[in-house]
Amino acid sequence: MRHFVIVGILVIILASLTYIGLDGIGLMPVAASAQAIPIDWLWNWQVVAMSFLFSLIVVPMGYSLIVFRRKKGDTTDAEHVEGNTNLEIAWTVLPLFLVMIFAYMGAFSLGEVLRVDPNAMIVKVKARQFAWTFEYPETGIVSTELHLPYNRQVVLKMESEDVIHSFWVPEFRVKQDVVPGRVTEYRITPSLVGSYKVRCAELCGTSHSYMEASVIVDEVADYDAWIAEQTALTAAAQTPEGQGQLLAVANGCVGCHSVTSTNLPTAPTWFGIYGSQVDLADGTTVLVDDAFIAESILDPKAKEVAGYSPTIMPPYTLTDEQIANIIAYIKTLK
Ligand code: CUA
Repeated sequence: MRHFVIVGILVIILASLTYIGLDGIGLMPVAASAQAIPIDWLWNWQVVAMSFLFSLIVVPMGYSLIVFRRKKGDTTDAEHVEGNTNLEIAWTVLPLFLVMIFAYMGAFSLGEVLRVDPNAMIVKVKARQFAWTFEYPETGIVSTELHLPYNRQVVLKMESEDVIHSFWVPEFRVKQDVVPGRVTEYRITPSLVGSYKVRCAELCGTSHSYMEASVIVDEVADYDAWIAEQTALTAAAQTPEGQGQLLAVANGCVGCHSVTSTNLPTAPTWFGIYGSQVDLADGTTVLVDDAFIAESILDPKAKEVAGYSPTIMPPYTLTDEQIANIIAYIKTLK
């Protein structure tokens, strides 16, 4: 009996220390959505269960190794033990009970996470290799950044143009695949103003790890200001360059082609490229003019720029006017 009391106390002590240790590591990033609360609640109870079960196995094992060690010179056989029915019932019923409790807690937290707010704001998300594009149907804004107002539920209607991607903002906790040929939904109520990052969480090709976009949770006033600013930009974009920039964002071009002097590994930067000579994979060089850009949009494999994988960019079907607008935009980047 004395052994059971000691082991029991040691289990409680080790379980507490394990829990405090795991909790202290800070495995989770900051929680920035209402949906994170039930998820973190469930996760916390699982850490409690893990800490207890870990201790329940390790303490009796370690205790037996030390306390019941064979004495020096003792060559007798160990005591013969037959089965123990009570013990077998206990270690069947208790885990069953525990699993059922967690099944209930899991269903409860899933229900909380999926709770629908009929006033939720809709944002359309387009995923493609290797860029995210966000469309606000109420205002017609298209952006490479996802701005969300604080404390209002948003439902993302997500579509992929090529392969399977996955929308994941660790601070929001929820993750959802974006699958070609169907619209998947992602529901979130941002609860912490700040700047986060959506990462693609499905291996989708060579530049999967660069498939990121900013997610910004704004105070309502800041969000309204951003919407107003973007609406004004869209309205002002009546020039060919302005139209070209909108097209470059809406088609995801700028996900792979940088528009600054910093190169992305996926594709040549557009900055200063117009009028320059670029090396091709076949050893020749080419002048970047209207004809080369138009050809590269319609048939990216026709002339492959040295140092970049030719299979990344799909051919785009754009009108002559749209292509001319994109070229006008590229010309401004210098
Ligand atoms: Cu898209 Cu990984």
